[in-house]
Amino acid sequence: MSKKPVSILVVVVAAVAVVVVLWLRENIATRKDEAKQLVFRIVNLTEQTANPAEWGKNFPRQYDGYRRASERTGTKYGGGGSETLATDKLAQDPRLKTIFAGYAFSVDYRARRGHAYMLSDQRETKRVQLPFHQTGACLQCHASNATVYRKKGLENGAPGTLEDPPVSVNGYAQLLKGFEKIGTMPYDEATKLVEYPVACVDCHDPQSMQLRVTRPAFLMGIRTLASSNEPTPQLPSIEKWRTGDRAEPYDPNVLASRQEMRSMLCGQCHVEYYCGPKATLFYPWNNGMKVEEIESYYNSYKFADGQRFFDWKHASGGAPALKAQHPEFEMWSQGVHARSGVACADCHMPYQREGAIKISDHWVRSPLLNVANACQVCHHFTESEIKARVDIIQERNHNLLGRAEDAVVDLINAIAGAQAAGVKDDQLQTARELQRSAQWRVDFVSSENSMGFHAPQEASRILGEAIDMARKGQLEVLLRK
Ligand code: HEC
Ligand code: HEC
Ligand code: HEC
Ligand code: HEC
Ligand code: HEC
Repeated sequence: MSKKPVSILVVVVAAVAVVVVLWLRENIATRKDEAKQLVFRIVNLTEQTANPAEWGKNFPRQYDGYRRASERTGTKYGGGGSETLATDKLAQDPRLKTIFAGYAFSVDYRARRGHAYMLSDQRETKRVQLPFHQTGACLQCHASNATVYRKKGLENGAPGTLEDPPVSVNGYAQLLKGFEKIGTMPYDEATKLVEYPVACVDCHDPQSMQLRVTRPAFLMGIRTLASSNEPTPQLPSIEKWRTGDRAEPYDPNVLASRQEMRSMLCGQCHVEYYCGPKATLFYPWNNGMKVEEIESYYNSYKFADGQRFFDWKHASGGAPALKAQHPEFEMWSQGVHARSGVACADCHMPYQREGAIKISDHWVRSPLLNVANACQVCHHFTESEIKARVDIIQERNHNLLGRAEDAVVDLINAIAGAQAAGVKDDQLQTARELQRSAQWRVDFVSSENSMGFHAPQEASRILGEAIDMARKGQLEVLLRK
């Protein structure tokens, strides 16, 4: 064999190699340039930069996503809304009118939508209009208020200055004082103090961009959870804190891992809470976060006037009822994803690639609109298969929820009927207690916004109990007649 073909081959291979190397260098250079843009600072951001547009000058990609939260989206069970107002839940499911009779939620109750609307939707709901009286506490979860709280706190004698980082002894004292003050102002007055929906400064340190939690009710709520005996495998830093000397209270900003923060940020607002005139806004996690643990805390809680905790007196039948609100953090805590260390942000703010840059999608929305980034990174099935699995879970939950609502409505009507027929009040006590418990469980699942997805088995367990309690209540009424 002659040597000639071999040397030609060598030349060709070498030439190709050179081209590849040059191309790679070129590629790496542009990628590096792109990567540099990530930290290219145009504006000097401080604790007082509330306007997200200013932050957007330094971080245009995140800002673009953030702004898209004003786009109207809808899935079978998620979000949805008309051009002007979000979908009316009461028109969609008239049983809710019976279940919430006598309460503000029987007057105006809508589907959630994007973060961009949180402040305007709250200002517009009939629930903040006469005859209802609300306080500034409502704003804790509906506005950018980290800085607003601190200013108010300082005006009212909290120590330090606005230059203190919020995550510091002075910063916390300012936040808390402002929260207390604004929380007792009438809503109409308090809402004038805030300007933006939840914004960059609420979730990020302006210098390091590190995540942080700033809602006072969450800081206090998570402390009480840490002090309880409830196992928290989904939040390992709490379990670790419990094994220490507990000299300092649990502080998520100091102790939580980055992955835990990616859920706690959302757990500041997507939780069950009490927000009313009779006590400061609080999260009822003293006994744990499961439906019956929260219930047992409410049952043991006494208002200043000595009365046992209740949200309102049911208009038909008089049961001292409880209202549940969006317990996403609590429900997620009972599911297999939380147990496996999968955070809210993994599904609702997944990473996306833009050139060399991996950024978090700041368009917080239903993951079903974004299955490739939100689910397929972990689940190697087709998009349609993943969606079908979610649909099975949601459909089952939806149907069982319907049966549970029917059962509660039947109980409410039975109690009202017995009352009308002259059955004495004290004879209906047990039935009313069963209504309180059954209704609380149905509402816990119905006001949770994933239609069962965050913890399917837990949701079924709760609904099964609700149906049992409601039907037992009906039997109770029958026995008294
Ligand atoms: C494993 C992925 C996953 C995790 C983790 C997760 N979610 Fe979800 N979430 C979903 C899915 C799927 C839905 C159903 C969306 C739909 O029906 O369109 C949903 C629905 C929601 C909704 C209603 C969305 C809408 O468009 O109506 C909210 C709010 C929500 N989740 C908040 C949270 C919070 C807060 C956490 C963490 C405490 C969390 N989620 C954790 C997957 C997840
Ligand atoms: C400051 C409180 C607050 C924080 C923090 C917060 N949310 Fe929300 N979220 C809301 C409110 C309020 C709404 C409903 C807005 C409306 O309907 O006007 C909402 C709506 C949503 C929706 C529905 C969006 C849609 O298009 O229908 C999802 C999904 C969601 N949030 C997930 C999250 C996740 C995930 C996090 C954490 C990364 C988070 N939220 C952090 C208060 C908050
Ligand atoms: C602990 C946090 C928190 C507090 C306090 C809070 N909200 Fe919300 N609110 C949310 C979250 C999260 C959503 C979105 C999820 C949903 O709609 O279920 C929401 C949704 C809403 C919506 C849109 C959907 C609907 O229910 O019609 C309105 C209106 C609203 N809240 C009004 C209020 C009012 C009035 C108060 C004070 C009484 C209040 N909120 C207090 C967290 C909170
Ligand atoms: C509800 C809380 C929340 C708000 C509001 C928010 N972010 Fe983020 N941001 C996150 C989370 C969660 C991450 C992921 C961080 C991590 O995993 O370390 C993140 C990450 C980032 C990062 C790091 C790079 C990346 O994309 O992962 C930048 C930069 C950033 N956000 C900018 C912004 C800007 C600018 C705004 C306002 C327009 C903003 N964020 C508003 C929660 C938030
Ligand atoms: C970071 C990884 C990760 C992401 C992102 C993720 N999952 Fe999962 N998923 C898991 C793990 C881990 C399990 C538990 C599997 C096990 O232990 O067998 C699981 C379990 C499930 C299950 C079985 C649920 C159950 O309760 O038994 C479904 C359905 C599912 N995931 C759907 C989704 C969907 C839909 C999304 C996107 C919205 C998603 N997952 C996003 C990791 C992930």
